[in-house]
Amino acid sequence: EPTVGNAIKALANGEPILVHDAADREGETDLIYHADAVTPDAVSRLRNDAGGLICVALGDSVADSFDLPFYTDVVDHPAATDHDLGYDERSSFSLTVNHRDTYTGITDADRSLTIRSLGHAAKNPGETVFEETFRVPGHVHLLRAAPDLLAQREGHTELGVALAAAGDLSPAVVVCEMLDDTSGQALTPEDAQSYADRHGFVYLEGRDVLETF
Ligand code: 5RP
Ligand code: CA
Ligand code: ZN
Ligand code: ZN
Repeated sequence: EPTVGNAIKALANGEPILVHDAADREGETDLIYHADAVTPDAVSRLRNDAGGLICVALGDSVADSFDLPFYTDVVDHPAATDHDLGYDERSSFSLTVNHRDTYTGITDADRSLTIRSLGHAAKNPGETVFEETFRVPGHVHLLRAAPDLLAQREGHTELGVALAAAGDLSPAVVVCEMLDDTSGQALTPEDAQSYADRHGFVYLEGRDVLETF
C-alpha cells in the first residue's frame, strides 16, 4: 500500500522511494533515498535505473548554517538569470560539492561518500566545518529547499526534505530523475509505478504528500 507513512518508513529503513511531482509541473518521477543510507550500490541504482542528475536536497536551515547559497545568487554571469523556467518560479540549485577524501569524485564510492557525509553533516550542522569536509566544485549537486517547504514550493526538493523531516530524519535526501532508456524522456508515471512494484518500492504522487502535510 503506497501511503505517505510507508514512504517515510522506507526512507528511515534506507530504502528508496519514488515520487512523481505533478503532470502540470515537471512531470518527473525522482528516485529518492535518505542521504544517510546511500551506499555505492545505491549510487549505482541511481545512475543506472534513474539516470537523471544526482542531487542532494538540504533543508533551508542546514543550507544556511553551511552558507550554501542559491547558485543564481552567486554566479555573476548574464546566463544566470532564474526567471524563465517553464515549471516553477525558480530552481533550487545551490553549489556542487565533493567530499575532500574523494579522488575524482564521480565513482560510486566517491559519490556515496560525499552524499552520506552530507547526511551526517545535516544532522548536527554545528559539528561540521563545511569547507574542511567538502570542496567546491564537485560531482554532487546541492539543492536548497524553501524555508517553509511545501507551503512555498512543490518541487522534489521540498517533497523529499518534507518526507525526511516527517520521519524525524535529518533534512538531507538524494534525488534523481527516472528517465526512459529508450525514449530519453522522463519515465511515465505508469512505468515508474511498475518499476516500483517490481522492486517492492513505494511510489507516491506529489499530491498524496501535499494532502498529508
Ligand atoms: C535537478 C532537478 C530535479 O527535478 C530535482 O527533482 C530537483 O528539482 P525540483 O525541486 O524543482 O523538482 O531538476 O536534477
Ligand atoms: Ca538505465
Ligand atoms: Zn524535480
Ligand atoms: Zn528535473
